[in-house]
Amino acid sequence: MSVGSNFDLKVQINYRLSISKSLSLQIIFKKKKVIQLHDKHFVPFISAQEIDFAIAKIAALVEDDFADEIPVFVGVLNGAFMVVSDFMKHYKSACEVNFIKLTSYEGMASTNEVKQLIGLDRDLTGRTVVVIEDIVDTGNTLVALKELFKQQNVKHFKIATLFFKPEALVNNIKIDYVGIRIPNKFIVGFGLDYDGLGRNLHEVYQLKEN
Ligand code: IMP
Ligand code: MG
Repeated sequence: MSVGSNFDLKVQINYRLSISKSLSLQIIFKKKKVIQLHDKHFVPFISAQEIDFAIAKIAALVEDDFADEIPVFVGVLNGAFMVVSDFMKHYKSACEVNFIKLTSYEGMASTNEVKQLIGLDRDLTGRTVVVIEDIVDTGNTLVALKELFKQQNVKHFKIATLFFKPEALVNNIKIDYVGIRIPNKFIVGFGLDYDGLGRNLHEVYQLKEN
């Protein structure tokens, strides 16, 4: 057997082992208990492994498009802090990061007004900007962001999101990189909260039907 095929065999075995490890971790996660945050109950929905695969996929797609320049990733706080952190670890080429704080959610419903609480503190003229969102729901936040970046004369303005609820979208907006499409139900975990709670969960939970 040549060195090459030995190596291929090892890669294949490692790949199969990691798939079966990830499958068993997913089964363990799906068997986890219902959790309570404030007055609501939530059931296990998306495992940490699925989230990691999705972020790695988006990072690879962005890197394919922009590895020959230095893009600026703009994380939308509060929700996107975990996504940005993992995204940066998967993105191997030169890049910069910045944050903006916007808010449109109160409790479990999106308000139509998007407020900017912390603004961008640097000039992005001529730069490629990739906005990184935790989730796109109505799309109101992205419309407000697009408006904001219109005045900045950027080279490219792209949008990446870990989660996307297509049924909730009320704006005509193009999302360039989508991690996972999900139904229009409220979720928590991996940066997403219900009235401040749940952001520290490694996995994502969905609101439990009564
Ligand atoms: P949009 O402006 O309606 O698209 O909402 C964007 C923001 O609302 C997201 O960045 C989240 O912070 C929040 N959001 C939307 N859907 C959910 C959810 O299911 N759980 C928690 N937060 C959410
Ligand atoms: Mg957000």
